[in-house]
Amino acid sequence: MISTDLNKAKSILQSDNLIAIPTETVYGLAGNAFSDEAINKIFELKKRPRFNPLIVHLKSSDDLHTIAQKIPEEAIKLAEAFWPGPLTLVLKKQSHISSLITAGKDTVAVRVPNHPLTLQLLNLIDFPLVAPSANPFGSISPTSAAHVFNYFKNELEIILDGGACERGIESTIVGFEDGVSQIYRLGSVSIEEIKQVIGNIEVFHSESNEIMSPGMLSRHYAPKTKTVLVDDVEKSINQFLNKRIGLLMFENKITNTKIIAQEVLSELGDLNESAHKLYASLHRLDHLNLDIIIAEKFPDFGLGRSINDRLLRATKP
Ligand code: TXA
Ligand code: MG
Repeated sequence: MISTDLNKAKSILQSDNLIAIPTETVYGLAGNAFSDEAINKIFELKKRPRFNPLIVHLKSSDDLHTIAQKIPEEAIKLAEAFWPGPLTLVLKKQSHISSLITAGKDTVAVRVPNHPLTLQLLNLIDFPLVAPSANPFGSISPTSAAHVFNYFKNELEIILDGGACERGIESTIVGFEDGVSQIYRLGSVSIEEIKQVIGNIEVFHSESNEIMSPGMLSRHYAPKTKTVLVDDVEKSINQFLNKRIGLLMFENKITNTKIIAQEVLSELGDLNESAHKLYASLHRLDHLNLDIIIAEKFPDFGLGRSINDRLLRATKP
């Protein structure tokens, strides 16, 4: 049921059951981080592989030391700059953190989300929440309560309704393995913003990244409809003649009678607005029985880079 009843949400969580919560990035499928029973239910409901660890959500950075230890200076700076907000830090875990959360690793991912309803909820309860995105494994993340309902129907007693997610793509994940700061997942905080706080940082690119941060698994964030990411949309349309085509465009509409549906993410060419609208547009296109979604490549800087990352993963067969 879609609701804003925080007391009911609290009692469901206290009995080791799951709810959906709004965050500024995407909706999360949340359970008590100190309950292995709740954590197990998350993996089962999402059909998520057990090797893919979860993010712990705190009410305040004051609680960070209860979850993580040996926190590097860069992590403190980043937390001060971006929390509450869409940045996740991967840190050495405190020994009591369940290995179900961390998939057996000795690091834990943690963030303070920036959504008033969820912060209110976190202040009502006396445990943090683990919350992956509230979608079945591999599918498009939800950015509204209705998206979550479409996936899980009444399997969730409460989907807390916090409106459309302001940022629209997942948090940026930063880790510090071997003393080197690295971006494990591009997201709602741009690389440029992170560099302003801690100087140079690399994006972790390698096959082993699938083990470092399994959310970087190649196919992910994917519509059911076949999707391609292209530089030249007009040319691509001509390659799919006689197909039911939908377009996902950055700022300009294309005039072509063969197109069945078209989503323009920001007529003003604003990358923040584009990120905010990305998943809702993909959800809409995916419900139209199209043969193909042609997505236009975004400018490769700022949030454009994070959007391209998601679109690229959506195109993997
Ligand atoms: O914006 C977000 O981060 C959303 C909202 C709900 O907070 N959550 C989210 O969770 O995107 P999820 O489970 O869909 O993605 C979590 C990512 C995964 O890619 C996982 O591999 C990575 O975090 N992760 C978690 N723990 C990790 C760890 N110890 N080391 C490396 N990566 C980790
Ligand atoms: Mg996810």
